[in-house]
Amino acid sequence: MTNQNVLTIQADQTLGKIDRNLYAHFSEHLGRCIYEGIWVGEDSPIPNTSGIRNDVLEALKGIKIPSLRWPGGCFADEYHWKDGIGPREERKRMINTHWGGVVENNHFGTHEFMLLCELLECEPIICGNVGSGTVQEMSEWVEYMTFEGVSPMAELRAKNGREKPWKLTYFGVGNENWGCGGNMRPQYYADVYKRYQTYVRNYGDNKIHRIACGPNDDNYEWTDVLMREAHRHLDSISLHYYTVPGVWADKGAATGFTEADWFVTLKKTLRMDELITRHSAIMDRYDPDKRVGLVIDEWGTWYNVEPGTNPGFLYQQNSIRDAIVAGLNFHIFHEHNDRVRMANIAQVVNVLQSVILTEGEAMILTPTYHVFDMYKVHHDAERLELKLSSDETYSHGGDSIAKLSASASRDAEGRIHISLCNVDPHSGAELSIDLRGLSDAAPQVSGTELTASAMDAHNTFEQPEVVKPAPFNGFSLEETTLRVKLSPMSVTVLQLQS
Ligand code: AHR
Repeated sequence: MTNQNVLTIQADQTLGKIDRNLYAHFSEHLGRCIYEGIWVGEDSPIPNTSGIRNDVLEALKGIKIPSLRWPGGCFADEYHWKDGIGPREERKRMINTHWGGVVENNHFGTHEFMLLCELLECEPIICGNVGSGTVQEMSEWVEYMTFEGVSPMAELRAKNGREKPWKLTYFGVGNENWGCGGNMRPQYYADVYKRYQTYVRNYGDNKIHRIACGPNDDNYEWTDVLMREAHRHLDSISLHYYTVPGVWADKGAATGFTEADWFVTLKKTLRMDELITRHSAIMDRYDPDKRVGLVIDEWGTWYNVEPGTNPGFLYQQNSIRDAIVAGLNFHIFHEHNDRVRMANIAQVVNVLQSVILTEGEAMILTPTYHVFDMYKVHHDAERLELKLSSDETYSHGGDSIAKLSASASRDAEGRIHISLCNVDPHSGAELSIDLRGLSDAAPQVSGTELTASAMDAHNTFEQPEVVKPAPFNGFSLEETTLRVKLSPMSVTVLQLQS
């Protein structure tokens, strides 16, 4: 075989843990994410547990979601949590001004979100309101959720049916405060952040990890100022970066796109690496020991909405292209596991790069869901050192990007998992994996592959299984060399077990 693609994996050299929180999700009061997608209410004919739809619960349990961010997004900075507690029929109604101008009835509030997290056995990530909320409001929310004992907020919580406090680790102090969260300058936000976070208290043994609003894309000045002014007062800063193939006014279609759109989508996805590298380098200046984490708390593809749907609902389809975007991003996050401790894809159901779509009582899993499923083997596993040498690129329109991307980890049981993406929609790839430092000379190898026959192949309510994982047998093991034949436009995970 004339193989020019060689992946060398050093199975005895680990490079730190791949935090399972890199596989976290984001739920926002936006379009049909919360209402319809998650919350249907106790009286709904759609099977539910205390108002939360069972099919979505089961699907999310399947990918072991580690943590879930809520209530926004831009919505967070106009959300007043006290409107979302108490008897539902008495809750205040408001206009969701950011997202479609629809009436928000506040039926899904703190208790419902915390129940969702308990049912999913995942950690809540609450994003507090800095843009239009008060310090007192934020402080009381934390007291409401976490104080055990006698206090006004703990008593209010008990009156609303929850005696015991919840465990709350992650708390975001505002969202996009450079934009929809108040249009602030970094200097101003840094001061505001320090003030608000002072009153985000640790009650009892509940220890809060404070996430400050970090930069958008390549706003390096924001990172610099925030780190300089506030790094001692925070545990993480966020970074938002979306893959938008076109321009803001015309982002491109989720399906029915051209190869040029395919190419630019993947190329722009790879920019995540540069953004993390450069923001991280700035953080290093103030925090060389990397105590402060970088949380990519919004990422994913952002296309034009599906024709005929509410432009404010950001509903989009999801194809094999999105699956590859997810695989590439995960590899980048793994690579930066010294700094990147959490990443939340936007949004979990019915919005941008969702893992689940619903229509009435029907639910489908998207190609992105399948990548989360295939990659869950990396959760909390030890990243393995690897080197990919390849002279094959994927070219289009006079430009080119790397054709292959890889990551590898070893889990607590000693199994090795290698994930591979081939971004080329036309041609497969032959890859030699040189396995060094294996404890077992002849491991059992198995594989799973996600691929499709068209660039925009996707699942619909009529045909929900057009894109789904299948067993992968395109490999052979010769001593310590694993020879693999990857399909075009594919995501593949190999398992090596002693
Ligand atoms: O995900 C949609 C929106 O994108 C979020 O509400 C906001 O934080 C970002 O601009």
